[in-house]
Amino acid sequence: MCGIVGYIGSKEIKHELIEGLRELEYRGYDSAGIAVMQHGNIQAFKAVGKLNNLEEKTRNFETSGPGIGIGHTRWATHGKPTELNAHPHMGQYSYVVHNGIIENYREIKSMLEGEGVHFLSQTDTEVIVHLFEKEAADAEDAEALFKAFKHTIEQLDGAYAVLLITQKAPETIFFARKGSPMIIGRNSEGEIYFASSDAPLIGKAEEVAYMEDGVIGYATPDAIHAEPDHLEFVPLSGDKLSAQKGGFRFFMEKEIYEQYQVMSDTMIGRVLDEDVAFEELSNDFLEGIERIKICACGTSYHAALTSSYLFERQARMPVNVEIASEFRYKEPLLNPDTLFIVISQSGETADTLEALRMAKEAGLKTLAICNVDNSSIVRMADTSILTRAGIEKGVASTKAFATQTMVLWMLSLFFAKRRGSVDAKTVATETSFMHQVPRVLKEALDVHEKCKRLSKRYLHGHGFFFIGRDIFYPLALEGALKLKEISYLHAEGYPAGEMKHGPIALADAELFTVALMPKTILYDKTKSNVEELSARDSTILSISPEMFELADDFILTHPHAHPMLEFFEMMVVEQLLAMEIAIRLGNDVDMPRNLAKSVTVE
Ligand code: F6R
Repeated sequence: MCGIVGYIGSKEIKHELIEGLRELEYRGYDSAGIAVMQHGNIQAFKAVGKLNNLEEKTRNFETSGPGIGIGHTRWATHGKPTELNAHPHMGQYSYVVHNGIIENYREIKSMLEGEGVHFLSQTDTEVIVHLFEKEAADAEDAEALFKAFKHTIEQLDGAYAVLLITQKAPETIFFARKGSPMIIGRNSEGEIYFASSDAPLIGKAEEVAYMEDGVIGYATPDAIHAEPDHLEFVPLSGDKLSAQKGGFRFFMEKEIYEQYQVMSDTMIGRVLDEDVAFEELSNDFLEGIERIKICACGTSYHAALTSSYLFERQARMPVNVEIASEFRYKEPLLNPDTLFIVISQSGETADTLEALRMAKEAGLKTLAICNVDNSSIVRMADTSILTRAGIEKGVASTKAFATQTMVLWMLSLFFAKRRGSVDAKTVATETSFMHQVPRVLKEALDVHEKCKRLSKRYLHGHGFFFIGRDIFYPLALEGALKLKEISYLHAEGYPAGEMKHGPIALADAELFTVALMPKTILYDKTKSNVEELSARDSTILSISPEMFELADDFILTHPHAHPMLEFFEMMVVEQLLAMEIAIRLGNDVDMPRNLAKSVTVE
């Protein structure tokens, strides 16, 4: 949801900014832009579309010697993806980049227009730079300029991570953060970097500070000043290579293929020989917890929904799962015996973050299941379990979903053991199945060729139904979401038993049904539901360890003795199928239209 970068140093500034933006492009790719200041002059470039267009445009622009710069890659919220709406936005002598939403921009804009300011864009961001120049009209020295910047930020409502440069302070980047992530990094060469996530800083900064909400300050080659508190720098570790495609066509493909490896990380120290353990959850913390409420969005919501079956079945605990954007406004009844869990890959999803804030305010104990350490959600929650999936760059979430679901399965067993709803023998049996997950994820890749071949046939028609029962219903929702977000084909996930209550009216040969038919759970029931669709001529693709005579196509999975093992294998099949269909349609799988990886707006 927009990415911003900043740089202070002596390297080639354009290159540093564009390299940083490349790492953030997954956050938005409607347009990109940079502004570079050297010797008191600012030069800015913007281009609509992906970063390559900006690179092309700046081909002949080079800098040498010290300077500063800011950059932005945009996911449009206010105003179409045009060059005028691209960041950086400029005033008379200053430039700004912004990630987030300024909720009161209309009021500020009309006030400024009343004073004769002329706006070039339709964005909310542009008000920041004009407001700053109004506040800084008489400011000449650094102190007065920072005061003007502070007055500007104080007048903004909403969420922001802002970087601003001005010709009045040619060596300074002003920064402010509320509600949108921003990280500052530095190294022993005296370089300073800003970015919306730590990915662009890996290999550049030696130590980083994850800014807290409300931080405002400025950086020059000599000093970093922040208020109200000093920034706390910690060493930055990380392997740049792990964030590259490594020979795969798309990040999504790479991330599907590495699921079996990252899953082992997810399990380390948690799935033991015959037990499960979470050092993140103390007895004190869990004291008095009788029920669970989970809030999440999109794919993370599907992981949550899957777990509701596991928690209730194994731990015999009431579990309630809600979409975070709905939860926020329903005036929910929150009981103190409830553990409030949020699930998020990015840890920055605005709706989930707000749901978490509400739960905290209501005095609930809160737990974040998250992939990004130091993210806003991790920092806000009382405790967190990191999913350890590694950086996920494909906009369509794959390994994050796999690891979230695994953590939730482990957690449901952990609660079951704690509450005595299962005996030690069951815990041991369950963990023995858990240990098989990495192998299952690896073997599941065997169907890749088959998915490639099948993708030829599943390109047209008037839509897809993914159907399944029990935990395979949330998996059906996830399969449909994967397909629609990268192929742009219409797809719905449905409980198999619910089709007869309306949707079956759509059935004909042009309706593709992807039937999840595990052998370990409700096989005969699901089979009857698929037969009903087949009788109405729907084209059936069955995913099952058993041949289903009425299916038009089959993807045969390996036989497993536990529903969760079947679940993980079918999950990989869905991911590969969606990806191959999207590739065949010529889509950019990693950057599907209209989407962004991290949704930091409401
Ligand atoms: C779909 C997808 C999204 C996210 C959703 C929540 O593939 O990635 O639906 O799951 O935007 O994001 P997080 O998990 O970062 O809170």
